[in-house]
Amino acid sequence: MRKLAIYPGSFDPATNGHIDVIGRAARIFDELIVGVAKQSPKSTTFTVDERVNLLHESCFEFKNVKIESFDNLLVDWAFQKKAGVIVRGLRALSDFEYEFQMALTNRKLNKEIETVFLMTREDCSCISSSMIKEIAKLGGNVNNFVPKNVAEALIKKYGL
Ligand code: COA
Repeated sequence: MRKLAIYPGSFDPATNGHIDVIGRAARIFDELIVGVAKQSPKSTTFTVDERVNLLHESCFEFKNVKIESFDNLLVDWAFQKKAGVIVRGLRALSDFEYEFQMALTNRKLNKEIETVFLMTREDCSCISSSMIKEIAKLGGNVNNFVPKNVAEALIKKYGL
């Protein structure tokens, strides 16, 4: 049976760390759907369509990866998609508590769906979307942290 996984997030915007997790998960699973949450607990800088398009452009090389958005409960969306696995990236110990809570809650909501964690590549472990937005807003260079199209979108967004 084909193994389908989903990688959910806000991706506001996607960073090199996210793309690294996507590439590695795409090698493990037959198919990976990257799920862009329409309703994020955070207020987002990029619209959902912008976040989806940026991911589309950055992931063109991964032939078994699809980018979609979702606006329901994560486990319900995973169930609809017939995905048995949720992939999340872990950067540092500080991510653990939040991820642990989310994984346990999702398991309580649907015990058929497993959460699998991939360790983020070392050089991406200090990156976060909000930090990148802060650097870009102040005119800093974010080329080492995000794909080229995301860097261009940030420059456009902040009118630099
Ligand atoms: N490399 C670099 N940065 C990474 C990273 C990696 N591998 N993995 C995560 N991050 C960073 C992101 O940049 C982001 O930084 P920010 O906080 O500064 O924005 C942060 O870690 C997490 O963002 P992201 O990976 O996009 O995920 P998220 O935590 O925003 O996603 C959802 C949360 C969407 C998965 C969750 O809210 C959800 O499932 N929502 C649907 C509704 C639902 O079911 N809720 C109940 C859940 S129990």
